[in-house]
Amino acid sequence: MGKQRVLSGVQPTGNLHLGNYLGAIRNWVEGQSQYENFFCVVDLHAITVPHNPATLAADTYKIAALYLACGIDLQYSTIFVQSHVSAHSELTWLLNCITPLNWLERMIQFKEKAVKQGENVSTGLLDYPVLMAADILLYDADLVPVGEDQKQHIELTRDIVIRLNDQFGSPKKPVLKLPEPLIRKEGARVMSLTDGTKKMSKSDPSELSRINLLDSPDEIQKKIKRCKTDPIKGLEFDNPERPECNNLLTLYTILSGKTKEVVAAECQDMGWGQFKPLLTETVIESLKPIQQKYDEVMADKSYLESVLREGRQQAEAIANPILSKVKTALGYSIPL
Ligand code: AMP
Ligand code: TRP
Repeated sequence: MGKQRVLSGVQPTGNLHLGNYLGAIRNWVEGQSQYENFFCVVDLHAITVPHNPATLAADTYKIAALYLACGIDLQYSTIFVQSHVSAHSELTWLLNCITPLNWLERMIQFKEKAVKQGENVSTGLLDYPVLMAADILLYDADLVPVGEDQKQHIELTRDIVIRLNDQFGSPKKPVLKLPEPLIRKEGARVMSLTDGTKKMSKSDPSELSRINLLDSPDEIQKKIKRCKTDPIKGLEFDNPERPECNNLLTLYTILSGKTKEVVAAECQDMGWGQFKPLLTETVIESLKPIQQKYDEVMADKSYLESVLREGRQQAEAIANPILSKVKTALGYSIPL
């Protein structure tokens, strides 16, 4: 049997932060040699909320470079840009026509984002999860490594597959494969530095709420210095009254590579004044190699372009036949 296939993606909106890294990309990197991997920069998703055309291309390069900088290895993984493979848009249309509207209206992320957009909610924002389903299904992906917030979208993808197979396939010959989410417990939900009950997010208006992978040591120091804490002495995990404490200890645990038990013992008698410099140092040191590699990759634009060009070819070689299979199942059979 061949390797299982993995697909995942990140939107080119703003900078990547520690939530994106710990919830998603770090897991892609760790598992990549076991699987056949496709990682896309989902630039079609980026326009579901108002966007700036002048920065879209640069943001897309930046995310692709960050994939490489975080350790995605082209020996095991393909990196490509979603809009380069037109099958994503085309399958989205076909899936749209079998996805009930009320499935989309129920999506938590849609409801949250729609509130923020006010009057300006596009049809694309509602349809976002169907495009995500197309991303996954075009590659017959077995596994989709994401943060906790994307679980509902993968469940929707599974519901779409079941419906499509039921209507247009047969139990022996399903048209599309059922994917599974791959969500790690630790780091699946990194919280905001300014409010430990909200997830760290690219769209939070406050820069102080997140640490970006490309933040300078000074910025990291400033953000940790000013992050929200509590007045209780001694640090502990899993106290629901102390969400900030749990979040900061978890960040320290993952980035230091220590176990939870070791960190719990190390920090139980510490005050914030002692812990914050330790966390600052750990974050700066773990981001340093990523930042160095990022600078190297960005210095050679033609290399990055060649990675994406090749990625596109490899992605199309998988996606186009699967799109054809779906079209045939739906009855598109007139030869050209
Ligand atoms: P996005 O920035 O929305 O494109 O998200 C890209 C990936 O990062 C997805 O797999 C998300 O689930 C993950 N992610 C985003 N924010 C967080 C967070 N605060 N904690 C953990 N994972 C996250
Ligand atoms: N919706 C995902 C997010 O914002 C990004 C995404 C788009 C994705 N297509 C995907 C993730 C396919 C996994 C698989 O986090």
